[in-house]
Amino acid sequence: MATMPFSDPAFRKISEIMYEAAGLSYNDSKKSLIQSRLAPRIQRLGLAGFEDYIAILEDETQAAEFQMAVDLLTTNETYFFREPKHYELLEREIGARKSRAPLAVWSAASSFGDEAYSTAMLLADMQTVGKIGPDWTILATDISHRVLLSAKEAVYPADRLRAVSPDRLRRYCLRGDGPSEGQIMVSEKIRKHVQFGQLNLCKPFSGLGPFDVIFLRNVLIYFDAATKREVVDRVLTALKPGGLFFLGTAEGRVPCETPLLPVQPGAFRKPE
Ligand SMILES: C[S@@+](CC[C@H](N)C(=O)[O-])C[C@H]1O[C@@H](n2cnc3c(N)ncnc32)[C@H](O)[C@@H]1O
Repeated sequence: MATMPFSDPAFRKISEIMYEAAGLSYNDSKKSLIQSRLAPRIQRLGLAGFEDYIAILEDETQAAEFQMAVDLLTTNETYFFREPKHYELLEREIGARKSRAPLAVWSAASSFGDEAYSTAMLLADMQTVGKIGPDWTILATDISHRVLLSAKEAVYPADRLRAVSPDRLRRYCLRGDGPSEGQIMVSEKIRKHVQFGQLNLCKPFSGLGPFDVIFLRNVLIYFDAATKREVVDRVLTALKPGGLFFLGTAEGRVPCETPLLPVQPGAFRKPE
């Protein structure tokens, strides 16, 4: 099938729309990525080309298609216990707390929920051995409706749980058989602690937190410098003093006005 033409003005317009809506920043090297992700959708809708699709994106009555474009253009790669040293730190820090007070965690760009469920498995273990009380919750948010629907179902290809210990797999997961062979479902005793919701990090929010721990991992890479700073400062308003803040270790120095103390690569503490 011939490639659908994608003019520079159409590329710039779509970049502008996605920057405004979701903070996603595309330089010229991303033109073919956008083309490959949107062209099949444009064909499926029976449209003549990108210009017609832009008209839909600009039409405020077409919110569902706008969400579809956001879903197609976001990159959602994730897996269980990604960056294991962050989970080791979390276990040490929470284990060192003297109280069994309620604990609140936010996975702020949760994608399919792997990060939130990994944290829930860790906290469930800590509750079992009496290191934390029973009152702990994890809020997992993302801009993509598609990943949130899938996250709530909590069914994954087994490979995504490759870093989950056999013991945790036995206690917290159900293995599919028959047509579900090769799939794993996270069990209700983990799922009941995790709540999912849609949240755009690039827009102001209120009424969240305060959290003891916030994960904001592997999402800032899609934003430009100004948006990164704005998002980090906004997210940090929801972190308790003394709370832990995680970024992807590949994301470099944390760009923000809020003072933060480095703890280990990609991990920071908000001063008391
Ligand atoms: C690569 S995943 C990171 C998942 C997980 N935190 C991890 O480190 O494995 C990035 C996620 O950020 C989400 N995202 C992108 N822009 C966003 C925005 N403006 N607000 C909220 N989430 C956003 C994407 O939908 C995607 O699911």
